[in-house]
Amino acid sequence: MKRIVVEGLKYKYPLADSLALNDVTFDIKQGEFIGIIGKNLAGKSTLCQALVGLVPHFYKGAYGGKVFVGGLEVKNHSIADISLKVGMVFQNPFTQVTGSKMTVYEEIAFGLENIGVPRSEIIERIDSVLNLLKIEQVKDHNPFDLSGGQMQRMAIASIIAMKPDILVLDEPTSQLDPAGSEEVFQAIQSLSKQGITVILAEHKMEKIAQYCDRVLLLNNGKVVDFDTPGKVFSREDLEEKGVTAPVYTRVCKALGVKKAGTDEYPVTLEEAERVLRGDGA
Ligand SMILES: Nc1ncnc2c1ncn2[C@@H]1O[C@H](COP(=O)(O)OP(=O)(O)OP(=O)(O)O)[C@@H](O)[C@H]1O
Ligand SMILES: [Mg+2]
Repeated sequence: MKRIVVEGLKYKYPLADSLALNDVTFDIKQGEFIGIIGKNLAGKSTLCQALVGLVPHFYKGAYGGKVFVGGLEVKNHSIADISLKVGMVFQNPFTQVTGSKMTVYEEIAFGLENIGVPRSEIIERIDSVLNLLKIEQVKDHNPFDLSGGQMQRMAIASIIAMKPDILVLDEPTSQLDPAGSEEVFQAIQSLSKQGITVILAEHKMEKIAQYCDRVLLLNNGKVVDFDTPGKVFSREDLEEKGVTAPVYTRVCKALGVKKAGTDEYPVTLEEAERVLRGDGA
């Protein structure tokens, strides 16, 4: 089942000279884990905002085409309605913390109380997201005492507790060290395995290659490609589009070794190892 359908989306910010998104068309099925990649200013964040309705309801500007998310046409529904279907996590977890709650537990409860979820269900949902994101041990801590990785996982937990079936994340690990990034990616992967549709804008290509089912490559607001990591990262014109393939892909490309029986280079450590050891891939 298609969860997201984007048809001919064009968008220009107020006062901007050029389109931030230019005739963007693609669709995403339920449960897919999708990466959005592209050089700086390619349009990744704008596309994330168009999926949650911030474009065009908050940013205004010139808008054309259609975006359907979980059956709702974004243009015709409020951000509040859309937010019941799709949750968004921003780059910096600090911007997503209320700042008024004394504990992680209360922080996660906040959104649920706002939408009137009954007390017993709030407790159930919080226990479940604390477990899912592996932050039970900090549930009584002050949100501002958490590590970056824990804070971002708390931000994701707050969104997931609202039970969206689609999750949009815009560079959720850009503020984190490698260990914190890995914690967050593992958590997102476990959400994906539970059937949540995940769309993630990201500059860390090794992570995209490791976790995503398909990759949407944007350049100057246009879709260049939307395919498996193997296909997208094996493109000859990748550098021209401002994207550097995962290090494993670059090494294998330099050595001229492709995955057995394909025209693709390995994209993960495991694939590279298999090919370089001569086990095929
Ligand atoms: N709030 C805004 N007002 C006006 N123009 C904007 C705004 N945000 C982004 N843009 C423009 O829209 C285009 C796409 O930017 P966007 O932020 O979506 O790119 P991005 O791929 O997320 O880049 P980055 O990798 O740097 O995060 C750029 O030309 C940018 O200048
Ligand atoms: Mg961005």
